[in-house]
Amino acid sequence: MKIKQMNHMSFDELDEISRPAPRVVEFEEVANKMVSRRGFLGSGVAVGAGAFVMGSTALSAGKALAAGTDESRLAFKMVKANGLDTITVPEGYKWEVVVSWGDPLFSNAPALDTTTGGTGASQELAFGDHNDGMAFFSKDGKQIMAINNEYTDGKTLHANRANGMPETADDVRKNKAAHGVSIVEVAQRGGNWGIVQDSLYNRRITADTEMDITGPARGHKWMQTSEDPKGLVAKGTWNNCGNGQTPWGTYLTCEENFNGYFTANDKNYKMPEAFKRYGLSTEGRYNWAMSDARFDLIKEPNEPNRFGYVVEIDPLDPTSRPKKRTALGRFKHENAELTIASNGHVVVYLGDDERGEFLYRFVSKHKYLAGGNNRDLLEEGTLFVAKFHDNNRGEWLALTPKTTGMTDAEISIHTRMAASKVGATTMDRPEWVAANPNKAEVFCALTNNKNRGVKPNAGGDATPPSGPNPRVENNFGQIVRWIPMNEDHTSSEFKWNLFVLAGNPAVYDDANAGSQNINQDNMFNSPDGLKFDSKGLLWIQTDGNYSNVKGFQGQGNNQMLVGDPETGEIRRFLVGPKECEITGSAWNAERTTMFISVQHPGEKGNSHWPDGGQSVPRSSVVAISRKDGAVIG
Ligand code: FEO
Ligand code: CA
Ligand code: CA
Repeated sequence: MKIKQMNHMSFDELDEISRPAPRVVEFEEVANKMVSRRGFLGSGVAVGAGAFVMGSTALSAGKALAAGTDESRLAFKMVKANGLDTITVPEGYKWEVVVSWGDPLFSNAPALDTTTGGTGASQELAFGDHNDGMAFFSKDGKQIMAINNEYTDGKTLHANRANGMPETADDVRKNKAAHGVSIVEVAQRGGNWGIVQDSLYNRRITADTEMDITGPARGHKWMQTSEDPKGLVAKGTWNNCGNGQTPWGTYLTCEENFNGYFTANDKNYKMPEAFKRYGLSTEGRYNWAMSDARFDLIKEPNEPNRFGYVVEIDPLDPTSRPKKRTALGRFKHENAELTIASNGHVVVYLGDDERGEFLYRFVSKHKYLAGGNNRDLLEEGTLFVAKFHDNNRGEWLALTPKTTGMTDAEISIHTRMAASKVGATTMDRPEWVAANPNKAEVFCALTNNKNRGVKPNAGGDATPPSGPNPRVENNFGQIVRWIPMNEDHTSSEFKWNLFVLAGNPAVYDDANAGSQNINQDNMFNSPDGLKFDSKGLLWIQTDGNYSNVKGFQGQGNNQMLVGDPETGEIRRFLVGPKECEITGSAWNAERTTMFISVQHPGEKGNSHWPDGGQSVPRSSVVAISRKDGAVIG
């Protein structure tokens, strides 16, 4: 594959090409399931009576509400799908850009030079690329945003390089600095949101920032490298996707596709099985090994074991060292949804975003104490993995030395293998998890999975259509909801149903039409970001197919919708510019403004958002508010 083409592919597509899963089709199993599934799915838009046990009547009500009755809690007029190179919000709302890739966080830094994409030095003082998950923190009346910079766009970051790849050591420095986390104070001045340059909170955390390794993997031999022979201090974080936030004032950033940065320039290199499970390949996407031996698998065979974690950061202490929380497991972390269970334990729900991988839960050993010292609650606890049964019940399987035959350190480093051992349910790419703040129920976006019922995951686990992953070759995705038994997030049992099965009822009349709460006006594909607002409404963001052809006809650009978990109603709130995804969200302290990430506009070269004209497209944070200044979430 030519590098130029590589830059026009999503990370996910590229990952699939560089490391296809085994081409084994379990014909008998798939065929059997297809037959039974036809019965289960029935015809038309009705999808699995069983799947909607807890919400079937509510979902019909939702359909009526979508038609526009005034009983709806969704207090806005739905926007229509479109393919415009701008942002569309409902009547009565407005939007503005807060900060974009390359904006200097400090007054001594140069403005972004879009003809080169800047330098290593300029990028280290500027907002990173491809912003994603975010959270807000307040101190002394100031609002501080912590936000992930997931990955980079070679066409713009390396605009002066023919193939959009780093060619010099400074290019590598720039590329690493465009990754990680940006911490920046934001404020409203003259009615407009913007960043506060030179705020004492402004800080960049990049692929080179030192951080402590904590938890079971700390010091383990698989964590030891020539730069860090004791396995205690990792350098950097990258591919930071979704996030979490703790009640003790810290930010959680989640390392997702950490694998794509390593290379091995030797035809005889033999990839270890454990690396194959995590999608390592000999051809990384960023050329970092050119000037940093850490990314050469031959020279530093343990370096990849130090990535794929959740990292805890104190954004209000600019001198603090981030902490890698290995107790939360190692996989392609999407986000980290933290809630305090009724018995005081901290529960963190975690998705592993890869086809056929799993959904996890961490339960802290110690309890949260309001006003107490909670800062290391994520250091010790137990990981569980979800097993869904077809009867709308499920269970959390503990990953312990007893259940897996692995040590605690091995479980925290080779988490996927531990989960395979206990027979977890292979999922349709678990993206964000969101817990309803007003009741004990949790939602996870299962974005899509073209391999469902087609081939196993990278560990050889079968992927039959079943439970909350009912569709073979699932192109549209769904959102699963579970309710912990006794409203206790530490319970080992739960009930589940599907909140929505996305689809296109304009094109299909089978299971691809989606569930009853999907119609031609609110349809979408590939739910990804999920976040609850204070009213218990679920904000849904998409990162999917925006081609507007075939099965995706009429679905427009990627978008944000709002769902009411009580009625099943879903309305489209926003449409993003061309070729972007909408991801990450947060509100200011007063909840009069909602912030979202618009990531990779023009990833295939067809956008000039947000600056217009012939400008290069830039990932940006957008602030949305009501024109009357009322609370919006
Ligand atoms: Fe970074 Fe799974 O999205
Ligand atoms: Ca995502
Ligand atoms: Ca994504």
